[in-house]
Amino acid sequence: MHRHEFLQGLHSVLKPHTYLEIGINDGRSLALSRAASVGVDPAPKIRVPLHCDLQLVTRTSDDFFAQKQPLGHLMSGRNPLRNARRGRPLFGAYTGANQVDLAFIDGMHIFEYALRDFINAERHSGWSSVLVFDDMLPRNNAEAVRDRVDQRGPWTGDVYKVIPVLAQHRPDLIAVQIDTQPTGLLMVIGADPASTVLKDRYDAIMEEWITPDPQKVPEALLERIQAVDPSSLLGAGFWSALSRRRGRRSTLNAVRRELTSLRGF
Ligand SMILES: C[S@@+](CC[C@H](N)C(=O)[O-])C[C@H]1O[C@@H](n2cnc3c(N)ncnc32)[C@H](O)[C@@H]1O
Repeated sequence: MHRHEFLQGLHSVLKPHTYLEIGINDGRSLALSRAASVGVDPAPKIRVPLHCDLQLVTRTSDDFFAQKQPLGHLMSGRNPLRNARRGRPLFGAYTGANQVDLAFIDGMHIFEYALRDFINAERHSGWSSVLVFDDMLPRNNAEAVRDRVDQRGPWTGDVYKVIPVLAQHRPDLIAVQIDTQPTGLLMVIGADPASTVLKDRYDAIMEEWITPDPQKVPEALLERIQAVDPSSLLGAGFWSALSRRRGRRSTLNAVRRELTSLRGF
């Protein structure tokens, strides 16, 4: 399954009210959103029709997140009438509805940028948010170089390093590799906006993981040994409970159980 087909399925099973996309390019992934959306890209070249209530931000993601209220466009205010006019949940400011329901992290394909995008996006997320990274399963070491020499072919950069880093430093998150074409996805559920673990350990993580080219992608990622089938994932039973934010602990346990069986171990 192509990554855009999976994302389309994800919009359909999750039914997010709010969507954040980092890295828009020609707009093909943003075109899948029907939710209130914020799209961030310093140089977007939108060539397809869009169908969402969009704030387009032509800045880098670091500049975007450095603002005081970067995701104000998605949020309900205190005035229910004004919220109704904007199509936001009437009492969202009081009911915890002010979060990013779905985020797609597909900006600069360098490890530290992708990790920072996650750290920043998580601050605006909740346990039921779904955060998806693109290009996490390169097919060879050449695709994974940090310094992109060939501008024409597919390029994942070394963002795949986010996978072992989250596994090591954030075992509380549910992270699942997805076997999409061409270069795989990573989906993260169970976000904790109060967590400062990655921020606190950021310098040590950089010291350990930023290495000069060539990169050596672990065999298990190249072979997609732990990656789940995208159709089976979209057919899982937990989506509606996640979408309605029902029963935090029981829903997250159901997600873990189903992912274990989808992986086959
Ligand atoms: C692979 S493309 C995005 C493709 C799009 N998400 C899709 O699936 O159709 C990556 C985009 O990230 C943007 N980008 C590069 N550096 C960025 C940064 N620091 N912050 C946000 N976006 C960035 C580029 O301008 C480019 O348009």
